Amino acid sequence: MTTLDTSALPQSEVWNGSVGAHWAAHHDRYDAMLAEFDKPLFAAAAIRSTDRVLDIGCGAGATSREAAWLAGRGRVLGVDISAPLIERARADLLPNLWYELADAETYAFQEAGFDVLISRGGVMFFADHRAAFANLARALAPGGRFAFVCPRPVDADSAEARVFGRLAEIDPAAPDPAALAAHRAMASLSRPEQLRAALAGFADVAISAVHATSRYGSDPEDAVDFVLSRRPHTEVPGGTRAAMAEEFAPYAGPLGVRLPSSVWLVTGRRP
Ligand SMILES: C[S@@+](CC[C@H](N)C(=O)[O-])C[C@H]1O[C@@H](n2cnc3c(N)ncnc32)[C@H](O)[C@@H]1O
Repeated sequence: MTTLDTSALPQSEVWNGSVGAHWAAHHDRYDAMLAEFDKPLFAAAAIRSTDRVLDIGCGAGATSREAAWLAGRGRVLGVDISAPLIERARADLLPNLWYELADAETYAFQEAGFDVLISRGGVMFFADHRAAFANLARALAPGGRFAFVCPRPVDADSAEARVFGRLAEIDPAAPDPAALAAHRAMASLSRPEQLRAALAGFADVAISAVHATSRYGSDPEDAVDFVLSRRPHTEVPGGTRAAMAEEFAPYAGPLGVRLPSSVWLVTGRRP
């Protein structure tokens, strides 16, 4: 089951190019965006102190470190295809935490070497989801469980869709091709039927919506700076910046600019 447009930029280039470099340089910002999903993810993963945990698409390692604290007498392997992100993750090591620069779709993991598999948004980028999850299932011990979060379809009426739609009208610059390829892949498991097809080899698959907020910046201007920093050229007229900041303004508060967002929380186990 090939789910991605294979003529598009390969994800290894995306995450070892401009997109990976941006995530590595702004890892704190991305962690703040995704932080509210950690609580439901870790509650579902229910990591025990002796567990062997695999974090798929671990990025700069925030969730791998959290898992390593929880599995204090176990061990954690974070795997990611992006050299800049793995380098960033390795800057913050713990005694029971390792990282591997590898493609989780094909990497020869130790057979049945893990009790728990987790991922915060790192499982949507495989060229063949079903083959990738079959490879990951082999890495889980029989009865082993997984918990991951991944994006839901963006509702056209949502604040996120409205704000980003308006931003694209105000600043219609063509996105970086790598950013576009990442964006497309992000949605590749957004429908429950896609998830169920990809996870056909697992038992007790459960998919539920989790609603939270994503923090884009400390104030509207900061959020605009961040959004613009994802483009190849950040120079825009002052009026454009101000108009973009106005779109973020209704979502600004003492804890920063927070847009409502939601993901799927997906759990299951190896039979
Ligand atoms: C949206 S980011 C999430 C990163 C991290 N989990 C976090 O929450 O900050 C997706 C991550 O998946 C990684 N990735 C994409 N395809 C991969 C693959 N085939 N194998 C391993 N990692 C992959 C990317 O390099 C990137 O770090």
